[in-house]
Amino acid sequence: MAEQSQAQGNLGSLRVLLGVSGGIAAYKAAELVRRLRDAGAEVRVVLTENAARFVTPLTFQALSGQPVRTGLWDEAAEAAMGHIELARWARRIVIAPASADLIARLAHGFADDLLTTLCLASAAPLALAPAMNQQMWAHAATQANVATLRARGVDVLGPAAGSQACGEFGAGRLLEADTIIAELAALHGPKLLVGTSVLVSAGPTFEDIDPVRFIGNRSSGRMGFAVAQAAAEQGASVHLVAGPVHLPTPAGVVRIDVRSARDMREAVMLQIPQSNIYISSAAVGDFRPNDVATHKLKKNGSEFVLTLTENPDILAAVAALKKRPFVVGFAAETHNVEGYARAKLERKKLDLIAANRVGNGEGFDTCDNEILLLSRDGSERLARADKLALARQLVTRIAERYTAQASASKRAPARKARAGKERSAR
Ligand code: CTP
Repeated sequence: MAEQSQAQGNLGSLRVLLGVSGGIAAYKAAELVRRLRDAGAEVRVVLTENAARFVTPLTFQALSGQPVRTGLWDEAAEAAMGHIELARWARRIVIAPASADLIARLAHGFADDLLTTLCLASAAPLALAPAMNQQMWAHAATQANVATLRARGVDVLGPAAGSQACGEFGAGRLLEADTIIAELAALHGPKLLVGTSVLVSAGPTFEDIDPVRFIGNRSSGRMGFAVAQAAAEQGASVHLVAGPVHLPTPAGVVRIDVRSARDMREAVMLQIPQSNIYISSAAVGDFRPNDVATHKLKKNGSEFVLTLTENPDILAAVAALKKRPFVVGFAAETHNVEGYARAKLERKKLDLIAANRVGNGEGFDTCDNEILLLSRDGSERLARADKLALARQLVTRIAERYTAQASASKRAPARKARAGKERSAR
């Protein structure tokens, strides 16, 4: 795996109409055109009038290899590929960056410039990658407009959180081009896991102390649920072993609810023989009380000592099986992320490990995340994005690695047999 390797999204020859609206992130749309073309898409670009103040049509013409349109009233353009032709040509409309103003106009069905007119005139599905100041994104008006568009079936990609061009920090950054491509590939590309069974574990585990108290952790389960959804989107048959969380089950996923680490181990082990890939994103509690009191424990005015026993390591047990699936672990660390994660990869004999930083408001119980993906032969950073966008990228990488490994192991016995034949012929 190459350091910072490029997204492997495959968009076939998808006809993408890329709309660019006015905002400082408009310059990033230039990179997106290149990456869309690398992924196989045909791209035509429309700039809003305000976008053309930040970036020039010429840049996009050079990168897309196609004329770029900026207004409805361009006689030459209307004589050639008029706006209705362009609307019919598109198989997918992507607007990146989508400004707060553009989102508001789309939500209310305006057709007061070329881009909004095209959105109304086209039957192609629409995806928006918002980018704006974090306060504008958080504003109730923007959130209501986004909810209206989502309810209409518009795919909203991002935004990511981080430092902004305006000097502020928060949600409102345009997703990286790689992430946008991965999202589009999940919607349009070939399905990478058809015929494959994927088992995902997610959420925390709870270890009971007495009938009313337990030891738990801050895991929300969101990352694991997003991974299960992403695997199902890629055509896999997915089983999700979930610790105690209140999240809806992703479409097409079979969910098995558990509570303690030992319950989780049992459910996982039951499913492993039918699984090709195991993705262990659960935050399994490392310890449980020696004894569970049958009655509520009462304080007696003195020190209370709870003796704990170590829980089984589910992931290591799966990886140690003779007939094992492709095994992916997670490492949530507060510091020395790469060092500790690599040690876990080696110690637990994993195929891949997805490492992230937790604590200080990062990782657990948040909506976005970033991942350092480690294998024996390298590492790759998956840029900060919301958990579903990140899960889609992660599942794409897992699918590629699993497929490569599965076809290499199919070739190995044939090679052995050939070598055996050659030896006996000698
Ligand atoms: N894991 C598991 N069973 C356990 C503990 C962890 O299957 N009893 C899995 C997690 O699902 C995760 C990986 O192991 O995929 C790493 O979990 P983590 O809690 O980061 O590591 P630990 O092995 O518990 O090590 P430590 O707590 O010392 O960091």
